[in-house]
Amino acid sequence: MAAMFFGSNVKMHQTVGESVAYVDALATFAAQSDLQLFLILPFTSLDAVIDRAHASGIWIGAQNMHWAPDGEFTGEISASMLRAMGVDVVLLGHAERRHVFNEDDALIRRKVEAALANELRVLLCVGETADERSHGAGEHTVARQLKMSLHGVTDLTNVMIAYEPVWAIGAAGSAADPAVIAESAAAIRTLYDEPPLFYGGSVTATSARSYAGIAGIDGLFVGRAARSVPGFIDVAQAAYPALQRAQTAAARTPHERE
Ligand code: PGA
Repeated sequence: MAAMFFGSNVKMHQTVGESVAYVDALATFAAQSDLQLFLILPFTSLDAVIDRAHASGIWIGAQNMHWAPDGEFTGEISASMLRAMGVDVVLLGHAERRHVFNEDDALIRRKVEAALANELRVLLCVGETADERSHGAGEHTVARQLKMSLHGVTDLTNVMIAYEPVWAIGAAGSAADPAVIAESAAAIRTLYDEPPLFYGGSVTATSARSYAGIAGIDGLFVGRAARSVPGFIDVAQAAYPALQRAQTAAARTPHERE
C-alpha cells in the first residue's frame, strides 16, 4: 500500500536552536502519526536534529546539494556529505533554486544522479510559472522538467515528486483551485506513475483537505502554514482523512505502488 507523506520546507534563516526546538515539539505527534513526516532544513541544522528526528520517525532533508562528489566548489555540500550525516532526503529543483539561482533541468539532473548514487531520497520539485501557464505551456514545462531531470533514471524507488506551481508558492503566490491542480496531477501521473507525488503551494489547514484528496496525490509539502509546530500539526491533521481515503482507493486500483 502506498505511504502517506506530509512535510515542511522550513525557512532559510531558521537557526540550529530553532530547528532543535521544532523537532522536539513535533516528536509526540510524529511518533503517533501514520503519516511519513519530513522536514527540509537548512544545512546548518541537519546534524543537530537528525538523531532526535529519527527517534520519532521524522525524515530530515537538505534544501539543496552540489552534483560533484568532490572538487573545487568552495561553499558547496556534496551528496556523500549529506549521506554520511544520516540525511534521508534532498530537495532538488525547488522553484527558488530554479528562478533565483538559475538552476536548469540539466544541472538538476546531475544533482538527481549524484543523490541517488549516494542512496539519498530525492524530492524533485517541478512547477510552471504564471507566464508559462497563461501561454498554455504549463503542462509542457512540467513534463520537460520531469523528463529532463529524471532522464536515464531507471530505478525510481528513491524518487518523490513535489508539484509546486511557481504562481502558487510563497508570499507572492496565490492559492490554486484544486480542480486545476487535479488536471496537473493527472498529467504528471500519465508520465510517472510510480513515485509518490506531493502538492505544495500556499497550502493551509483550511485548504489541505481538498488538495490532499486529489487523485494521484500521496502527500503535501507545506511552507508558511507549517512554520510553527502547531501550524504543522493543524495542516497535517486536516490533510490526514483525505490522504487516508486516497490511499485506500489506490490500494483497490491496479496502480497500487507497493
Ligand atoms: P508555501 O511554500 O506553502 O509557503 O507556499 C511552499 C514551498 O516553500 O515549497
